[in-house]
Amino acid sequence: MKQLICIIGNKGGTGKTSITHMLCHGFGLLGMRSIAVLTDISREPLTRGDRRYTPIDGRSPDKLEKIIAKLEFMPEWLGVIDGGGNRPEMDSQLYEISDLILLPFRDSHEDIRTVRNDLDAFPEAYGIPSQWPTNAWQQMTAERSLDELMQDYRPRLLDPVYAVSASKLLLESQIPPSLPTMLNNVCRGLARQVLERLDPHEAA
Ligand SMILES: Nc1ncnc2c1ncn2[C@@H]1O[C@H](COP(=O)(O)OP(=O)(O)OP(=O)(O)O)[C@@H](O)[C@H]1O
Ligand SMILES: [Mg+2]
Repeated sequence: MKQLICIIGNKGGTGKTSITHMLCHGFGLLGMRSIAVLTDISREPLTRGDRRYTPIDGRSPDKLEKIIAKLEFMPEWLGVIDGGGNRPEMDSQLYEISDLILLPFRDSHEDIRTVRNDLDAFPEAYGIPSQWPTNAWQQMTAERSLDELMQDYRPRLLDPVYAVSASKLLLESQIPPSLPTMLNNVCRGLARQVLERLDPHEAA
């Protein structure tokens, strides 16, 4: 059973932590169980509360190893690992053990330059446009950057995760019992396309 997804990439601030939580929330909305694994030592662990998924502290290599080992005996659970920026060695290790690797990048030349290097280093990984503009004009400009700078990588790009300001609610220690429809829709869409890449036969 394919169940381990890693959100990594060399650049900081691309949306790894947000995408981890949005994806797990999306899985929850689709009735699937998941854990969001924290590996970034600069972040504080979160508790479940009203979440539809379980945040887990995997900041020490020892804990992370145990979580991954345990997941193998919990086939009905999906695991999403939130990497930290600028940790190429850890990214390589996560790449080796994952079933699906996502590399978020924003609409900036700096992010695009970094994600191109990461896509070359991790040939099975997918790029995922993150914090993507919702305004029509900005979207057109962002699309143009993809055409100019990411043409060769197009088949390896997932649909964008749009900028939704409510996404920060998922990163707070307590989340409201009900979340804005816009956020739920973006999270559900993200979860669906990830399931498709994880196991094309199951999702069909
Ligand atoms: N889809 C989104 N819509 C709106 N804001 C977003 C979205 N994704 C991320 N952000 C915001 O962008 C900032 C950086 O996001 P995040 O912390 O998820 O990035 P990161 O890659 O985990 O960063 P780091 O490298 O520091 O771990 C945060 O303020 C977050 O709230
Ligand atoms: Mg982060």
